[in-house]
Amino acid sequence: MPCTVIVGAFWGDEGKGKIISYLALKDKIDFCVRTGSVNATHTVWIGSKRYALHMIPAAFIYEKCHLLIAAGANIHVAKFLEEVELTNVKDRVGIDHQASIIEEKHSVQDKTSTHLKGIGTTGWGVGPAVEERVRRTAKVAKEIPELQPYLADVATEINNAIDVDKKVLLEGTQGFLLSLYHGTYPYVTGRDTGAAAICSEAGVGPTRVDDVLIVFKSFITRVGGGPLPREITKEEAIKRGWFEIASGTGRDRRSAPFSLELAKKTAKINGATQAALTKLDSLFPICRGARTFDVLPQEAKNFIREIETETGIPVVLIGTGPEALDIVDRRRAR
Ligand code: IMP
Ligand code: MG
Repeated sequence: MPCTVIVGAFWGDEGKGKIISYLALKDKIDFCVRTGSVNATHTVWIGSKRYALHMIPAAFIYEKCHLLIAAGANIHVAKFLEEVELTNVKDRVGIDHQASIIEEKHSVQDKTSTHLKGIGTTGWGVGPAVEERVRRTAKVAKEIPELQPYLADVATEINNAIDVDKKVLLEGTQGFLLSLYHGTYPYVTGRDTGAAAICSEAGVGPTRVDDVLIVFKSFITRVGGGPLPREITKEEAIKRGWFEIASGTGRDRRSAPFSLELAKKTAKINGATQAALTKLDSLFPICRGARTFDVLPQEAKNFIREIETETGIPVVLIGTGPEALDIVDRRRAR
């Protein structure tokens, strides 16, 4: 803090929504800027209520947090309006006037383009929407009548907030290995998803960021095509308790064990200063709901220390269950 970038380490679905919702509540985050687009689903649990958010920043859970959507984002108008209602954030959400619009035709192109078939896109149309923006024919938020009440100058607002030491989160989407530039091309999404790109989409210069928090999951998942080192079968994933279904598209997620090698690489290229590790209870069920490091079994502690040694950064937040507050927070102990 005050300005922290949240970046996914692998192929998305690391649990960024959970980490952001925890930080929002715990640290009383003043501003949260979402980047990317509607293809990413960030899941937030409040008690038994689950929110699967495609547009609204995951920090909505803290009712005083100002929610912003970056100039580099793509807005799905209907989804945005639906989620504003669902989360009841009308009075504290803003969209950059220059964020571009993702339309139904982009989704159709996404689903019918033969060159995208093997990639297994989400079908929301992000690639075609970005293409249109690059051609400079995309519509932007300020042209859409329903978005008028929400228009903002997000870059100025967020830099002004940083000037006066407000607590700011920049919310990345997907994971670094889905980056258009640094990921497993061509099996990637239509944007760069790294920490630097998150800043660029929001309009925050690199000197203004205090921390880059990289989010690891205790095992790795991927949806769609492309390489996944040491992939296990669905049967094996079910046996290990790792089998997941994509919250956005309902597809099976492929899975593989955690990779120290990939963790080291992604931490380095993102300039990560801190790490979060989610779903520790999937590897060690006894950790479920734990809130202090001391109570974790030795094996789990060793796993965490190995990540720290290999990446050279501290694992400050450890997820032990689905709810926002199921976290071991080691920041104060350091
Ligand atoms: P697109 O982003 O819809 O173009 O899909 C490109 C690739 O990124 C596909 O393999 C998708 O499954 C993957 N992908 C896109 N968004 C997400 C996400 O939020 N979580 C996980 N994978 C994603
Ligand atoms: Mg997701």
